[in-house]
Amino acid sequence: MDRPLTAEIKKLSFFYGEKKVVHDISLPIFQHALTALIGPSGCGKTTLLRCFNRMHDLYKGNRYQGEIRLLPENKNILAAHLNPMEVRMRIGMVFQKPNPFPKSIFENVAYGLRVRGVKRRASIERSVEEALVQAGLWFEVKDRLRTSALALSGGQQQRLCIARALATKPEILLLDEPTSALDPISTGHIEELVTELKRSVTIIMVTHNLHQAGRISDYTAFMYMGELVEFGPTQQIFTNPVQAKTEAYITGRFG
Ligand SMILES: Nc1ncnc2c1ncn2[C@@H]1O[C@H](COP(=O)(O)OP(=O)(O)O)[C@@H](O)[C@H]1O
Ligand SMILES: [Mg+2]
Repeated sequence: MDRPLTAEIKKLSFFYGEKKVVHDISLPIFQHALTALIGPSGCGKTTLLRCFNRMHDLYKGNRYQGEIRLLPENKNILAAHLNPMEVRMRIGMVFQKPNPFPKSIFENVAYGLRVRGVKRRASIERSVEEALVQAGLWFEVKDRLRTSALALSGGQQQRLCIARALATKPEILLLDEPTSALDPISTGHIEELVTELKRSVTIIMVTHNLHQAGRISDYTAFMYMGELVEFGPTQQIFTNPVQAKTEAYITGRFG
């Protein structure tokens, strides 16, 4: 039943200065599946997600303990000697609020390729088109690629951010509540898109929307106060959780 792994979190703890907010979490991340991270606000979902692309390195005093191993090469992406830029090329991230750069649609998607040193124009154009097609945005924007990304609607901006993350062909796509700022129709688009995308990329998605997790995720990890309470196939977590806390959360009795 289980698929191959894309990554494995091993005894991961995370500290903002002295404050420990992720406690000794171990979790498999299955390939070409969508893993949902759920749990009440403040339980550490975003913090855990951001460990994956070494976002926390940007601030002094933050500290990781434990490992996140990328398979099959078994590389610990938290290793101090590893260049965070290298990690970020392999792991794309999309945030709660769409955050396109104040540049053209084209340049937003081309950004990661340029950072990576891709110079050939034809190659950049091909990758930009591919990423926009993958993000379900191509037909809406193909005639206005050189216009500002900021003129797009919120839902389009979020799909653009997904295209930007996909352009460098990441192995893992991190989504932090990607629909929380969107209307129901745009949310539906993103959910369909993500369901399609997971055939080719491993996805980890934070959501506080239990219905969303139930609809589109394959695996669910329930976190509470920085700890992983329970992990399993989504259907099992939602219909037959082992832990009382999970059941209480799923049935809406807290959080
Ligand atoms: N930059 C930060 N510095 C210190 N504490 C933080 C920082 N960001 C988040 N926290 C704390 O870490 C805990 C987990 O937060 P977060 O990962 O954002 O939770 P979630 O995404 O589940 O709502 C919370 O107690 C929050 O207040
Ligand atoms: Mg969060």
